[in-house]
Amino acid sequence: MYWSSLFNVRMKRLNPSVIQEMMTLISKPGCISFTAGEPSMDLHPLEKIRSAFDETLFNDPEVLAYSEPSGDPGLRAWISSWLEKNQYAASNPGMERIFLTNGSQAGLNFISLMFLKEGDKILVEDPSYTEAILSFGKEGVEFLPVPLKEEGPDLQVMEDFLKKNRVSFFYSIPTFQNPSGRSISKERKREILKLAERYDFLIVEDDPYRELWFDSPPPATFLSLSRDDERVIYLGSFSKIIAPGLRCGYMVLPLSVMKKAAELRVALEINLPAIIHKTVLKVVDDPLFSLHLDNIRSTYRLRRDSMVKNVNELLTPLGFSFSPPQGGFFIWGSMKGLNGLEFSRYAAINEKIGVIPGEGFFVGAGGENYLRFSFAQVLEDQSREGVIRLSRALKNFVRTE
Ligand SMILES: Cc1ncc(COP(=O)(O)O)c(C=O)c1O
Repeated sequence: MYWSSLFNVRMKRLNPSVIQEMMTLISKPGCISFTAGEPSMDLHPLEKIRSAFDETLFNDPEVLAYSEPSGDPGLRAWISSWLEKNQYAASNPGMERIFLTNGSQAGLNFISLMFLKEGDKILVEDPSYTEAILSFGKEGVEFLPVPLKEEGPDLQVMEDFLKKNRVSFFYSIPTFQNPSGRSISKERKREILKLAERYDFLIVEDDPYRELWFDSPPPATFLSLSRDDERVIYLGSFSKIIAPGLRCGYMVLPLSVMKKAAELRVALEINLPAIIHKTVLKVVDDPLFSLHLDNIRSTYRLRRDSMVKNVNELLTPLGFSFSPPQGGFFIWGSMKGLNGLEFSRYAAINEKIGVIPGEGFFVGAGGENYLRFSFAQVLEDQSREGVIRLSRALKNFVRTE
């Protein structure tokens, strides 16, 4: 049977990602990886997760039954007051507006399935998160790439697009962005919200790195600045602050969308595992959770410092330029004339060091000179050794080209 001819148009639009290719290349013994955009295993609150899971099963065995399609009411209520307490939202949105998801990725896919159709146009930061591009792209949309500068998206380009196109939404990762590590300033967000009103489009705010700030808390969210006028869909996640394998995230949706989202959930998967939601609730509701957040922030800060120092010492003199990130997981930089994709393959094969080429993060032209290094999982000695390998690879690669 020739299966590939049976795939529908969505399946045909999916492509293997460069990230997967790099992960495979550096899965051999002796390799050092700067590829993984995920938290460090040693920072998962393992004991707490284990005891919360056990307690839940022991005290609350009905978690094994089918449950509410929007997710556990207790966790939704906790999220709703957390959003207010931490000023993610201007006021408490109410648990009726919190829709739990299998991580933000599933939230992005709900948005794709609920709102996108072939030919729709969406504004995206350029560069942007590859898997979001995959999720929206499989619906056959057209991307309008808005260059992402240090202070945020280029407003002039954005407005030029808006004058000529009707767009469904602007997809933004406003805090410590993947891949660039940049955050959009409060002023720039206000300008974008004005454009959203003038040209009537939604903002999809994907914010999984918000709690991972190193020096000072990040600028206010689009959600809070919009005074919650239902123009912003906010996506949060516990992946980067607890553990991605729990697959637990959420969306803040307008009340009128919640019912439809629950209907879609039933059609797709009936409900999510209540055992996970109740476990996550026990983890976040523990008074020690804020200490856990302090701990992961300071550990990632040290890892950032170490990699920034090594890159400054060993790669900057070779022409690699970058701005140290203020939070999140990534160092993002470029080198004039470098073919990032070829270089990443070369470095993985010849020096056993994995980095991600920038090209895959761009929907517009360009990006071939960029590289992304993640420091989240990299201990100090590996950081030094990895950057030494990178500098050797860069020198030899440039020589052999
Ligand atoms: C910007 C962005 N959005 C969403 C996700 C997916 O996160 P989750 O594990 O919550 O699905 C990631 C993961 O790397 C990400 O970087």
